[in-house]
Amino acid sequence: EWTTGNIVEEQVAAIREQVGDARAICGLSGGVDSAVAAALVQKAIGDQLTCVFVDHGLMREGEAEQVERDFVAATGAKLYIADEKKRFLTALAGVADPEEKRKIIGREFIRAFEEAERNILEEAEAEGAKVEFLVQGTLYPDVVESGGGEGAANIKSHHNVGGLPEDLEFQLVEPLRALFKDEVRAVGAELGLPAEIVQRHPFPGPGLGIRIIGEVTESRLEILRAADAIAREELTESGLDAEVWQMPVVLLADVRSVGVQGDGRTYGHPVVLRPVSSEDAMTADWSRLPYELLATISNRITNEVEEINRVTLDVTSKPPGTIEWE
Ligand code: XMP
Repeated sequence: EWTTGNIVEEQVAAIREQVGDARAICGLSGGVDSAVAAALVQKAIGDQLTCVFVDHGLMREGEAEQVERDFVAATGAKLYIADEKKRFLTALAGVADPEEKRKIIGREFIRAFEEAERNILEEAEAEGAKVEFLVQGTLYPDVVESGGGEGAANIKSHHNVGGLPEDLEFQLVEPLRALFKDEVRAVGAELGLPAEIVQRHPFPGPGLGIRIIGEVTESRLEILRAADAIAREELTESGLDAEVWQMPVVLLADVRSVGVQGDGRTYGHPVVLRPVSSEDAMTADWSRLPYELLATISNRITNEVEEINRVTLDVTSKPPGTIEWE
């Protein structure tokens, strides 16, 4: 019988068999897939696994803590944290072009991960152990997609944080290869991962870096993080999380418009809400969220985030609009 408990048992046995007493590493992105893959492998081989979290500083509010605190609390996994916020901000300084931003983030991510990797390898060596395996959260649809030729590839240079450089020195452990997303969520819940991790909406590897239209700076990240946190909080509060595939909040950082607050004129930035409904992100429709919810989000963002004086709604389907703005 195909139950979540069976999947866990089977995979744990298979991982033990594959890895033996060698060591493994696993990149954590904050996303569901890498978290569940890591939790499975941790259950199978315990401290032979080291998880790596590269904090690029482009996560949403609370997300780094979710990895650093909640994931570790739920799994007991050994975690190596690379605080690389400065590296990414420096590399992104002065860059506004979307593809260039994506390439820089992808490149720096691989570099940062490789540095972490080297440190972990050295540490293992000093203990007389060898790191031979790399864990990846590849799902069944990823397997099918990469076998089926690249159809509409390279509209944007996607990169998967957590799905990493195809590292030839490692053998891959891919415990989710036979699973669909909903099964992965069920396995994650079975393993005791918190709902905030297991039910998380998709979030792009380059993070908020591609949701700031214009140059990425620390202060812009702060503004977007605050607005995004309010939008997510209210969506969850409304009970509509499951109705929506994801809801990017986009900061139009180079745009200003005139507003009024109290007796004063404001000259602030707009944000765009981009709630979409979708089955697979290949196509999407804009979500018809209740006006009351949109009103609450708008009121709260413009009241609580000083630099934002206008909230707009993206009513474009995909195609022609992509889900992300960059
Ligand atoms: P678009 O914007 O192409 O997005 O309609 C489709 C889905 O992919 C996500 N996305 C990414 N995910 N790395 C990722 O892991 C990326 O570089 C990336 N770019 C977009 C996007 O959030 C949506 O779910």
